Amino acid sequence: MKYFFLIYAIVAVSVVGIFKYRGHFFEQPPIQLLPDMDDQDVLKAQKQSDFFADGQGARKPVAETAPRGFRADGQTQLGGIPESEFSGATGYYYTGHYGDFYGTGMPDELQLTEQNSIELLKRGEERFNVYCSVCHGKSGDGAGITGLYGVPGIANLMSGPYAPQSYPDGRLFEVISKGKGQMSGYAYNIPVRDRWAIIAYIRAMQVARSAPYDVVKDAYEAGKKLQDEAAKAP
Ligand code: HEC
Repeated sequence: MKYFFLIYAIVAVSVVGIFKYRGHFFEQPPIQLLPDMDDQDVLKAQKQSDFFADGQGARKPVAETAPRGFRADGQTQLGGIPESEFSGATGYYYTGHYGDFYGTGMPDELQLTEQNSIELLKRGEERFNVYCSVCHGKSGDGAGITGLYGVPGIANLMSGPYAPQSYPDGRLFEVISKGKGQMSGYAYNIPVRDRWAIIAYIRAMQVARSAPYDVVKDAYEAGKKLQDEAAKAP
C-alpha cells in the first residue's frame, strides 16, 4: 500500500507538471524531438515564390502531361486500352449492369465464337493468375499467399455464395472494377475484355469443381501425373 501511494503521488505530480504548460506561451522555439514533417518547403496555393524564375509558386503540369485515359495527340487508345474504358462508358459490357440491376452472361461485345471462347478462357486463366491468385489462390479457393502475411477475409470464390445462381456475372465485373472491402478495384489495371475473360475463367473453375469425376477423370489423371513427376524431380 505504501508503494501504491508513492507511485500515485509521482504520477499525479508528473501529470500536473506536464499539463500545467498546456496553453502556455514560450519565448523560445519548441524543442522538436521528432520533427517529422513539421517544417516543409511547401508553398500555399497561389503564393509567389522567388525559387522559380517566373515568380509563380503554382506550377503548370510538365509539357505533354495527359490525364489517364487520354493521349496528347488526341488518339483514343492508351496502351491499347480504349479511352471509353476510363471515362464512364455505359451499358452491360462496361458496367455489368442493366439499369439498376446486375446482368449475367457474357456480353455480345465479346463476339464469342466456338474458337475464340477457348482463347478468352486461356486469357482469363493467365490474367487471373497474374492479378487475383496472390490473394484468392490459383484455384480461387481464397488461400493465396497474401493470406499468410495478414490480408484478412479473402473470399473463397469457389464457395456457394459466389456460384452463378447466387452471384451474377455483372456483380463479379463490378467487384473486379471497383473492389470491395479490403480488395481494391482493378479498373485501371485490367482492360474490360480481360475482366470478362477472368469472369469466364472463374465460372469455368466453379463448374469444374462440381463436375462429376467421370467427366473430369482424364484431366484429373493428367494433372496428378504432372504433380507426381514434379514431386519426384530432384
Ligand atoms: C490484395 C488481395 C486481393 C486481390 C489481388 C484480389 N482480391 Fe478479391 N478479395 C480480396 C478480399 C480481402 C476480399 C474480401 C473483401 C470483403 O468482403 O471485404 C475479396 C473479395 C472478392 C470477391 C467477393 C466480393 C463479395 O461480393 O463478397 C470477388 C468476387 C473477388 N474478390 C474477385 C477477385 C478477382 C476476380 C480478382 C482479380 C482480378 C481479385 N479478387 C483480386 C482480396 C483480393
